[in-house]
Amino acid sequence: MTHYRAVAFSGSLRTGSLNTALILMAQRIAPERLTIEVLDYVDQLPWMNPDTEYDPPALVQRLWDDVRGSDALVIGLPEYNWGTSALAKNALDWLSRPADDRHVAGTTIAFLSAASASGGQRAQDGISTVLGLMGATVIDEPHVRLSFAGDRLQADGTTTDPEIEAAVLAKLDAIVAHLDSRPTA
Ligand code: FNR
Repeated sequence: MTHYRAVAFSGSLRTGSLNTALILMAQRIAPERLTIEVLDYVDQLPWMNPDTEYDPPALVQRLWDDVRGSDALVIGLPEYNWGTSALAKNALDWLSRPADDRHVAGTTIAFLSAASASGGQRAQDGISTVLGLMGATVIDEPHVRLSFAGDRLQADGTTTDPEIEAAVLAKLDAIVAHLDSRPTA
């Protein structure tokens, strides 16, 4: 059986972030065939600037290499004002470039979200549509869209609610199933 490797990051800088917690949970409970490496530098990326997309800053090149060198990308995606947080959007904007060699193309992406009422639905749906148009595969279902989960999810990625772990594991299993279903080169 093929072993897969994913990279992951959180779109929140907040101490006690629930979206960071979901990434830590995913790393902890990942199925045996999936290793998740958390990228700890995404908050250090420069703001997207198309002037440099053909000669990118070193950290952007690192992000591109890390994503191209892995089988999947998992993002703890906050919802801010019906969209993604600026941190996550900035990373995804870099990954969408350059237009003639988009680094998201061919990538398998999964979002885990914790938010208020929407659970992150608006943030996920908006960015998923355009990522799909750019050639990424977004593992949409099963959804991980937690509403008001602050009392059930700890900052270290542990939970008192087994349904949260089950939902995250189902998403990770869906990533593996998708990767298994890809035609071999
Ligand atoms: C939010 N929040 C939020 N929630 C939601 O469901 N829909 C929304 O549009 C917004 N908008 C929004 C804007 C801003 C600027 C903030 C700071 C917050 C609530 C937010 O999703 C919630 O606080 C999450 O817990 C934030 O993610 P972290 O930091 O816990 O990972």
